[in-house]
Amino acid sequence: MNIKKVCIVGASGKLGQYMVTHALARGYEVVGVCRPQSVDKLAHFQDRITLVPSYTNDTDVIKAAVSDCDAVFTVLAPWGVNDYASGTVQAVLDHAPEQARLVFSSGWHISKDGKDVYGYKIRMIEAVLSPIVRFLRLVDINDQHVAARKIFNSDRLWTLVRGSDLEEGASEGLPVWSTHVGDAVLESNITRRTDFALFMVEAAQDDSLIQKAPAIVSRASKSAHMHVAIT
Ligand SMILES: NC(=O)c1ccc[n+]([C@@H]2O[C@H](COP(=O)([O-])OP(=O)(O)OC[C@H]3O[C@@H](n4cnc5c(N)ncnc54)[C@H](OP(=O)(O)O)[C@@H]3O)[C@@H](O)[C@H]2O)c1
Repeated sequence: MNIKKVCIVGASGKLGQYMVTHALARGYEVVGVCRPQSVDKLAHFQDRITLVPSYTNDTDVIKAAVSDCDAVFTVLAPWGVNDYASGTVQAVLDHAPEQARLVFSSGWHISKDGKDVYGYKIRMIEAVLSPIVRFLRLVDINDQHVAARKIFNSDRLWTLVRGSDLEEGASEGLPVWSTHVGDAVLESNITRRTDFALFMVEAAQDDSLIQKAPAIVSRASKSAHMHVAIT
């Protein structure tokens, strides 16, 4: 696909800002949507992107922001308990142009077909931490699951990129991926955040990832080296 213009929904977060950087580096025209109180976080991109200050689940705003975009990159944030992630996804699915590539982010805890095999940490977060943080009205991991289900049930040209544990640092190159958490190649469970963003932006050009939910890991990780022929 010949991508000229993209929208980054949730542009002010750490992942979003890396995606802005990668998109600009490819020469794309960038529209960024972020919460009004976070506009200052994007000040260093001033004049290089079109900034839309808004909550990302505002349907009318998303409709206008994505209207003539070739790709839409959406950060699925689990924050708050007002269906923010699922509302954001619904707005993007409803209003992005028919042929636009839609790329969403999540963690490994999201499962497309229930065949992922999770370690102790993710199982504890889902079983114990998730109800507590929801009770405290901080984070609604269940809404991320609802949002993901909307994506999986959609016939749009979507990809849901599932990130491992993340760290900051210079790029180690495009992450490698596998279909299911629990696959040996993913065992190291670490990716640089800039490379998570790189994978998201590259995914828009990769038709083999359409309607897939790749789980990613750093190509420099031990498990990637053991199980993939890294070039
Ligand atoms: N953190 C990890 O270890 C990890 C691991 C795997 C995958 N992921 C995935 O990576 C993506 C980015 O996550 P991140 O942890 O790296 O953080 P991040 O990039 O900083 O993104 C957090 C996002 O949540 C928004 N946000 C923060 N507080 C909010 C609130 N109260 N209401 C609504 N939105 C709020 C932020 O917007 P503002 O800029 O407006 O605050 C930002 O867009 C997510 O899809 C996450 O599931 C994260």
